[in-house]
Amino acid sequence: MRIGDRDFRSIWAEPDGASVGIIDQTKLPHELKVVTLASVQEAATAISDMWVRGAPLIGATAAYGMAFALRVDASDAGLDRAYDMLHATRPTAINLRWALDAVRRRVRPLPVPERADAAWAFAAEICDEDVETNRRIGLNGLALIEAAAKGKPAGEPVNILTHCNAGWLATVDWGTATSPIYQAFEKGVPVHVFVDETRPRNQGASLTAWELANHGVPHTLIVDNAGGHLMQHRMVDLCIVGSDRTTALGDVCNKIGTYLKALAARDNGIPFYAALPASTIDWTVRSGVDEIPIEQRNGEEVSHVIGINDDGVVERVRIAPAGTPVSNYAFDVTPARLVTGLITERGVCTASEAGLAALFPEYARKSA
Ligand code: MRU
Repeated sequence: MRIGDRDFRSIWAEPDGASVGIIDQTKLPHELKVVTLASVQEAATAISDMWVRGAPLIGATAAYGMAFALRVDASDAGLDRAYDMLHATRPTAINLRWALDAVRRRVRPLPVPERADAAWAFAAEICDEDVETNRRIGLNGLALIEAAAKGKPAGEPVNILTHCNAGWLATVDWGTATSPIYQAFEKGVPVHVFVDETRPRNQGASLTAWELANHGVPHTLIVDNAGGHLMQHRMVDLCIVGSDRTTALGDVCNKIGTYLKALAARDNGIPFYAALPASTIDWTVRSGVDEIPIEQRNGEEVSHVIGINDDGVVERVRIAPAGTPVSNYAFDVTPARLVTGLITERGVCTASEAGLAALFPEYARKSA
C-alpha cells in the first residue's frame, strides 16, 4: 500500500539476498524507520519487541528468521533450535506456529546444504501468498460493504468500526480487516472508518490512522470506550476486525477490547465481522476462552504512554501513580455466537464449525 507516493510492503527481501527490510512499527507514526534484519536473533527481537506485529506479519518474519538461522546451522538440531527460539517470541498469534511449521516441513526432507536457500525462497513465497490471500479477503469483504452502501442514502459513506491494526502493517500487504475497506475505497464506494485508539499500545491511533491517512481513506479516531455510544446512535453500519487466532468452532481471538465491541454490536443489531486468512485458524483448538494462551505484556505499556510533544520531541510519560499495580492482557476472545461472519480468502462463512468446514474441508477433516 502507499506511503506518500511510494508503494510499500511491510517486509521485503533486500537485493543482497541475505537480509530483509522492515518498518520499525514502534516508531510510527512519528518516524518512518526502516530496519534491516539479517540474523535469527534480530528476527526474534523484531517480533518480541513488536517492531513487527500483527499475526500474518509475525509469521512472515519468523519464516525469514528460520532462513537466517539455517545459513548458520542447517542441521536438524539447528532447525529445531531456531524453531523454538522464534516460537517463544509471542504466544497468541497462531500464524507464528503456522509459518514455522510450514518452513520446517518444507526443508527437513532436503539435504543439509540446500536447506538455507530453500527456506529463503519459501519465506518469499509465504510473503507473496499473504499478499494474494489478503487481496482475496478484501474482494470477499467488499461485497458486504457494497451491500451496506445500498441501504444508505446516495453518497453517504458506509461507516465501519475497526479495532487495533489489522491493516497492511499487520500483514505483508492489504491487511485483513482493512482489505475490504481499501477495495471499497479503490472502487469508489464511499467509506468512513471509525478507528479505535486501542490502548495500551495504541495500534489504532498510531498505525491504522497513519495507514488510512496515507491512502486517503476518510477516518475518525475514537477512544476505545466510544464504540458502544456510536453504535447506539446508528453511527456505525458494520464492524470489521482482524484475528490472531480463530478456533475450529469460530471463536475469534483478537486484540484486547474486541470482545466488548462485539457485545455492543450485538446489543445494537450491528453486523460484526472478523477478517482472517486460513493461516489464522487453529484447527487444534475448539474453545477459544479455555484453550488459547493470552499474552500478558509489560505493565509499563499501561502505566506509560508514548507521544510527540509540541516541539516535535517523542516522549514517554507515566500516566498512573508510581507503583500502581497493573495487568496487561494483550488479547481477548469473542465467542463465535457474537460474530456475524468470518471473511476469508475463500469466501464469507458463519463463525461456526460447519461454516469453516464448508470453506476449508481439507483442514477441517484433519482436525475432526
Ligand atoms: O499485538 P499486535 O499488535 O500484534 O496485535 C495485532 C492484532 O490484534 C491484529 O488485530 C491482528 O493481528 C489481526 S492481523 C491482520
